[in-house]
Amino acid sequence: MKKRLIILSGAGMSAESGISTFRDSGGLWEKYPIEQVATPEAWRANPELVLEFYNIRRKELLNVKPNAGHFGLAELEKEFDVQIITQNVDNLHERAGSSNVLHLHGELMKVRSTGDETDILELDATRPEIFLGDMCKKGHQLRPHIVWFGESVPLIEKAARIVETADIVVVIGTSLNVYPAAGLLSYVPRGVPIYLIDPNEVSVNRRDIHFIKKKASEGVKELHNVLMCQ
Ligand code: OAD
Repeated sequence: MKKRLIILSGAGMSAESGISTFRDSGGLWEKYPIEQVATPEAWRANPELVLEFYNIRRKELLNVKPNAGHFGLAELEKEFDVQIITQNVDNLHERAGSSNVLHLHGELMKVRSTGDETDILELDATRPEIFLGDMCKKGHQLRPHIVWFGESVPLIEKAARIVETADIVVVIGTSLNVYPAAGLLSYVPRGVPIYLIDPNEVSVNRRDIHFIKKKASEGVKELHNVLMCQ
């Protein structure tokens, strides 16, 4: 039976594809304050600005491609039972060929009804924008299918159960600043190896981490070699 490899990815995973991270210098939250574009209060105060922010993100996503890190993880499915839990709202893991991707913080290419959160639509590349006045079939305004700050993370329990099944865990490109996602590491069973790929220091409250201090593309290559030698 294949070993279960759980990947926890964040914005750094997609940095080499040209998508900005959030907290690095020049990151997205420096240009667009969180409280103006990614909270329920922002949506109530200025929905046009919120929609514009995600319209720009969607158009940006359509112009980028998965990088070697995304492809390397898809490749690992030949040897491992891979499950990706990502904080990213882009679809680059899927476009690289990964089969099992859980999006903790929502998905950029999806929108949903403000009247019924289970009424979710997928946008296509020919019409990636939504505006005030764009409604669901029942006449409610559409909003981005994104988990904003201050909202609950509906898939966190499911993600925790997945992490509990790990034989190996790999964390890639997340500053581990945002909860509850960052808390998923506490569900890793004792004795399960944890690799962390990031070119910068990431402070983790555990001693048993194998750090691979590289960018995602190079780091995934090194991970591949390490796992094949086990
Ligand atoms: P951050 O921007 O907080 O962290 C990005 C991490 O990626 C940092 O640790 C960087 O050192 C690292 N990094 C930068 N370039 C890299 C590269 N080429 N390869 C690998 N790592 C690299 O992003 P997240 O931790 O993903 O939430 O942020 C978590 C959440 O906060 C996001 O999902 C978003 C944000 O606010 C929402 O919008 C709800």
